[in-house]
Amino acid sequence: MSKDVEAFSRKLEKLKAVQRMEAIIAEIPQDKLLLSTSFGAEDQVITDIAIKINPSIRIFTLDTCRQFQETYDTFHDTIRKYNCSIEVYAPETEDIIALMEKYGPNSMYESIEKRKECCRISKLVPLRKALATCDAWICGIRQEQSVTRFNSNPAEKDTQNNVIKFAPLFDWTKEDVWDYIRTNNVPYNKLHDRNYPSIGCAPCTRAVEPGEDDRAGRWWWERAEQKECGLHKRQDA
Ligand code: ADX
Ligand code: SF4
Repeated sequence: MSKDVEAFSRKLEKLKAVQRMEAIIAEIPQDKLLLSTSFGAEDQVITDIAIKINPSIRIFTLDTCRQFQETYDTFHDTIRKYNCSIEVYAPETEDIIALMEKYGPNSMYESIEKRKECCRISKLVPLRKALATCDAWICGIRQEQSVTRFNSNPAEKDTQNNVIKFAPLFDWTKEDVWDYIRTNNVPYNKLHDRNYPSIGCAPCTRAVEPGEDDRAGRWWWERAEQKECGLHKRQDA
């Protein structure tokens, strides 16, 4: 994008989410823009908004091969409802074999280093591959989600991957997300009805207890400021 990212971000801030998506889609050539989805509530919203603007928008998911069946059900419901196809990026088989043979299948619980290594080969390497095919990506992060995301912007440089990252729902509340899903009859992951507000891989996600924050069920054995797999690493983090 030739324009200054910060200026574009300030422009996006003033718009509503649908207009933000229209502006993003107008700005970036179709083959160079990727929308990411893990089939969580926010991603279902951005998918619905984006497909209504451009039914041919490129959408991708990182399949770690360790997700819940309910997540695969949502994947299936989504491609059926929107008659779209979703690009899948997965870990290299030899990386998974090497990790499993060295440390076993549950090493994520043993140390933060081992957990991050699993996230690196399962998510970060495939993300890098996906983003090598584009100039910009769209994600579903919201400021309200965690201490690590409170200062997210609608557009910023993803310096790890050398692309622009858009977060059109950056200022949405959880209520905004669920109002949109209900009003627009958007398919969603049924685990959300069973106290899973934030859903990642099955070994690393549990339901939350009443009063716990929404990301408490992700990597629940780690401290809040460690709960990122690296997809959304910030320059200022
Ligand atoms: S994570 O970094 O802790 O796993 P989270 O689950 O909150 O992220 O999702 C934040 C955003 O990251 C999603 O809205 C989506 O845009 C992107 N994302 C997360 N996981 C994936 C995935 N498996 N495939 C594609 N995008 C993903
Ligand atoms: Fe591995 Fe858990 Fe990270 Fe998924 S979230 S890639 S299972 S450590």
